[in-house]
Amino acid sequence: MKTIYFDNNATTKVAEEVFREIEPYFCQLYANPSSMHTFGGQIGIKIRNAREKIAALLACEPSEIIFTAGGTESDNTAIMGTLAAAPNKRKIITTRVEHPAVLTVCRDLENHGYAVVELPVDKQGQLDLKQLENEIDDDTALVTIMYANNETGVVFPIEKIAELATGKSVVFHTDAVQAIGKTPLNLSKSSIDLLSLSGHKLHAPKGIGALYVKKGTRLSPFMLGGHQEAGRRAGTENVPGIIGLGKACELAAKNIEEENQRVKSLRDKLENALLEKCPGSRLNGDKENRLPNTTNISFEYIEGEAILLMLDKYGICASSGSACTSGSLEPSHVLRAMGVPFTAAHGSIRFSLSRYNTEEEVDYTIEKMPEIVNKLRELSPFVSK
Ligand SMILES: Cc1ncc(COP(=O)(O)O)c(C=O)c1O
Repeated sequence: MKTIYFDNNATTKVAEEVFREIEPYFCQLYANPSSMHTFGGQIGIKIRNAREKIAALLACEPSEIIFTAGGTESDNTAIMGTLAAAPNKRKIITTRVEHPAVLTVCRDLENHGYAVVELPVDKQGQLDLKQLENEIDDDTALVTIMYANNETGVVFPIEKIAELATGKSVVFHTDAVQAIGKTPLNLSKSSIDLLSLSGHKLHAPKGIGALYVKKGTRLSPFMLGGHQEAGRRAGTENVPGIIGLGKACELAAKNIEEENQRVKSLRDKLENALLEKCPGSRLNGDKENRLPNTTNISFEYIEGEAILLMLDKYGICASSGSACTSGSLEPSHVLRAMGVPFTAAHGSIRFSLSRYNTEEEVDYTIEKMPEIVNKLRELSPFVSK
């Protein structure tokens, strides 16, 4: 059975072009880039090239890119590094809908004496910028707000938010893990100080990421050890990962506009058909300000996990907005923050597309989904028959 992969916000396929580019770095070009010999030196040059490609996608300077082990490390570094560089400030502002790579860190910091403000969102998943502005005070070390939500695809007005924070001399970090490659960025004209990205969300391998650090931003190193990354991130470089991330960024930069157009029209076709053909379904999140590849739909009175299992039987991969933790189904913190009713939050499914999806895959899913929903509704104790 063919796999239909609509779970690209979880991870993406490594692009064939990326795979071909990184292959020599395992068994042939395996030297340590810090070594003095020519063998090592040539790897250093390749890393420099990769850094330039990433900088080109983001429109920033190569020296503003630090390689990390992924989005989680980039987020941790941005938060912990900023706080360590400003030890007298004790307040952090974030949102209720962040990825755990930010939210868990902030909540842990709260246990260590920091004041953490988690801004609420409205029904569309959007923030009240006035509230944000009012929260920023002299004690605020950092505002950390995601670019685009991994569950709903909702995009925040990040430039406005960055201006609000930096206008009050507060460092601004954004977790842009889901936005890179799906949204054009120009960091040379932006007020963003720190930005996290992750390779495996844009067709590079897992375990590689980067943190953009605007020139002049005060940031203490998070990983201590050797002198790699100009002393800003210790640890022998993940050379194949770095080369792969460079190539993936080059591909993204080349095709971003037309690819996003194509992906968006597939997403819209899927979304419109499911909302029309499945009674009791509703879209979660701001329809306008959204990533082009993501749709999050609730199918009321049925369990998201049951839908996933039935989709799986047809080879369709998606994900649900609830996670089965210790036997009880806990609805997603993002949907809860948006006030999505319990019965709808439990039946939410995220379909996240990529450049590799086809119209046939969308059509097949449109055919199967109503069948699945009707079958589960027949079994649901919450539906009157
Ligand atoms: C918004 C967001 N931030 C951070 C991460 C973590 O990235 P990584 O898996 O590279 O650690 C993810 C991954 O799902 C994400 O979606």
